[in-house]
Amino acid sequence: MSIAVHAEHDLGGANTLGLPCVAERFAAPRHVGELREALALAGDRGWPLTLLGGGSNLILPARLPGLVVQPALERWWLEPMGEGVRVHAEAGVDWHRLVMALAERGLWGTENLALIPGHCGAAPIQNIGAYGVELGDVLEAVHLLHRDDGREAVLGAAECAFGYRDSVFKRALADRVVITRLVLRLSPTPRPRLAYGDLAGRVGEAPTPLAVAEAVCAVRREKLPDPAELGNAGSFFHNPVVTADTAARLLHEAPTMPHFPQPDGRVKLAAGWLIDQCGLKGWREGHFGVHDRQALVLVHFGGGSAEELLAFADRVAEQVSSRFGVMLQREPRLAG
Ligand code: EPU
Repeated sequence: MSIAVHAEHDLGGANTLGLPCVAERFAAPRHVGELREALALAGDRGWPLTLLGGGSNLILPARLPGLVVQPALERWWLEPMGEGVRVHAEAGVDWHRLVMALAERGLWGTENLALIPGHCGAAPIQNIGAYGVELGDVLEAVHLLHRDDGREAVLGAAECAFGYRDSVFKRALADRVVITRLVLRLSPTPRPRLAYGDLAGRVGEAPTPLAVAEAVCAVRREKLPDPAELGNAGSFFHNPVVTADTAARLLHEAPTMPHFPQPDGRVKLAAGWLIDQCGLKGWREGHFGVHDRQALVLVHFGGGSAEELLAFADRVAEQVSSRFGVMLQREPRLAG
């Protein structure tokens, strides 16, 4: 047995919400062999297993029994591929650092996804997306281990069944696999995607991937709180996708409501706008609040617990439901 297992490990600094949490046992495997060892150990001993990525989309309870595994596989490399480049990035690579390194090399594809906190291994689970781009647009394959027997597999992008904040890893494969590596397809050929907000105005005539990534960072910093300063998990709710009838009813009442027709005829609404319209922006109760610059982000002022956060979020969702008749769904996962 070579993998180190730490007892009573403090995870307080390992989640961007800043919730206090202690793991009964903790391991950070550095390569696939160690990861397989950790999975086998939990299986043999009957320990409940919790997988941790960068901790940026996660709500932690005060204590996690069993074994918490945070993959620390941290290599990434490029593979030339015809006109483009394949990027291999292991699960523990910091997503934003990878995005900036690729943008600095003049590669197009991930620049709109700059400054999203978290590790590469978690990115496919909710199909991270921002500013008109989703991971699924650039992902070619996902390498993984099955949790039950440690066997390796590779899923192509189609098998990942990506949707808005959705993938097979939240459905058929939920809690059954551990992602070990992403394979992305990037290109040196310019293909800026600048339709969101005033991105185009921020980057000038002949944008580079780095200029776009820096503009995205600037936009995010204006609206989203830095987890190092104020605990948060980014958007706390999904943007709800409603029927055309519901959207028409709401638009009749509020013609300026932001709305985005979907290919299937339904309509995506902006949860941040709905919360804002309820007058909740900047609302604080106890240790939690609604961010004063982006109502979709709930913030933790310190000293709170997962239970209090969930109760606070319920109160926000209840107000949106009673005002608009729309149910909000939580985005961050509840661990344990
Ligand atoms: N809005 C308000 N008030 C608010 C917040 C938003 O009126 O307090 C309005 C905005 O004016 C805009 C609309 O709602 O008309 C949408 O707002 P925004 O462009 O800020 O984006 P979002 O829908 O709130 C989504 C993602 C973000 C991503 C941005 C940019 C989800 C759940 N969230 O937010 O992702 O950065 O678009 O693409 O889809 C995350 O998932 O953690 C995240 C930050």
